Amino acid sequence: MDGRGLGVTLTRHIWEEQQIHPEATGEFSDILNQVAWAAKVISREVNKAGLVDLLGYTGERNVQGEEVLKLDRYANEVWMSVLRHSGHFCILASEELAEPVVFPPKWRKAKYAIAIDPLDGSSNIDVNVSIGSIFAIHRRVSEGDEGTPDDLLQPGRRLAAAGYVVYGSSTILVLSTGNGVHGFTLDPSVGEFLKSHPDIRIPARGKTYSVNEGNFPYWSEGVRRFVAHMKEKDSSSGRPYGARYIGSMVADMHRTLLKGGIFMYPADTKDPRKPHGKLRLLYECAPMAFLCEQAGGAASTGQGPVLDVVPESLHQRVPFFAGSVENVREAEEFIAQYDGSA
Ligand code: AHG
Ligand code: MN
Ligand code: MN
Repeated sequence: MDGRGLGVTLTRHIWEEQQIHPEATGEFSDILNQVAWAAKVISREVNKAGLVDLLGYTGERNVQGEEVLKLDRYANEVWMSVLRHSGHFCILASEELAEPVVFPPKWRKAKYAIAIDPLDGSSNIDVNVSIGSIFAIHRRVSEGDEGTPDDLLQPGRRLAAAGYVVYGSSTILVLSTGNGVHGFTLDPSVGEFLKSHPDIRIPARGKTYSVNEGNFPYWSEGVRRFVAHMKEKDSSSGRPYGARYIGSMVADMHRTLLKGGIFMYPADTKDPRKPHGKLRLLYECAPMAFLCEQAGGAASTGQGPVLDVVPESLHQRVPFFAGSVENVREAEEFIAQYDGSA
């Protein structure tokens, strides 16, 4: 808390960034306040989902072939409504929608495109475990009146901003506009996000690994050997590491950003329709990779930086290894040694 204990709001944070980084414009202040508004509305419903018939399934399946939960659909509707009327976005991609949504031109030419995971960690909704939302904001590249998929299919290296909201014991918005990573905790009593985690930095090495080990039989030899390596007894290198897996990418990545270590969703042979693992590039891996690199960490497909992958399709999946630089490099070394440059 600063001075009179009022704390630093999102708006003041962006204003302060503008003093140092002129490219952080007032427009971002409004964009991030729109994101914060969506986060507050979803947080309110998440915190009472059991009381307002928002648990359970809708009976529908989304483009991913996954059963849609009521909170998935609700969150998607909240994000769509807020972002459509913000005037900042020409096109939107959502995990819950097969096709992108083109927002009609407004009173001003929208300068950005946005990809969202409206609600991440859906399998944890009904058991009261932390879930989240993820967003990735690109500068528009199309010239016409309306946005095009090209505005979305840009490598993560070009992201203008990215972040997530974790709906946990508190609601925390973590974001970067390219000038470091900062966390804001919602004070529900005044409905304001206040800076609580200034300039998040990922430790160079961590002693926690986070992966769904139930997929062990389906991994490549390199990944299996890497995970086995982290579980070997070797006190000089602090092994075996601790295992932590929540099953909500946002929660697992939030811990990894703050404490270091490695979070992984490797490619597996479990489902031939998903040969590159489960996590989606546009609205899960690229925004999280952007935050990792902005926080001094790394994010790799196992073969190279996630941020350098040029997306080919909206719901494309990539293998994902992210967190402390040294841990991610070690994963790449095992994969190079045992899997070759697959
Ligand atoms: P979503 O709920 O948006 O579909 O994302 C779920 C993802 C991600 O949050 C998490 O890391 C992963 O699914 C967990 O998958 P497994 O249950 O296969 O481990
Ligand atoms: Mn997700
Ligand atoms: Mn989701």
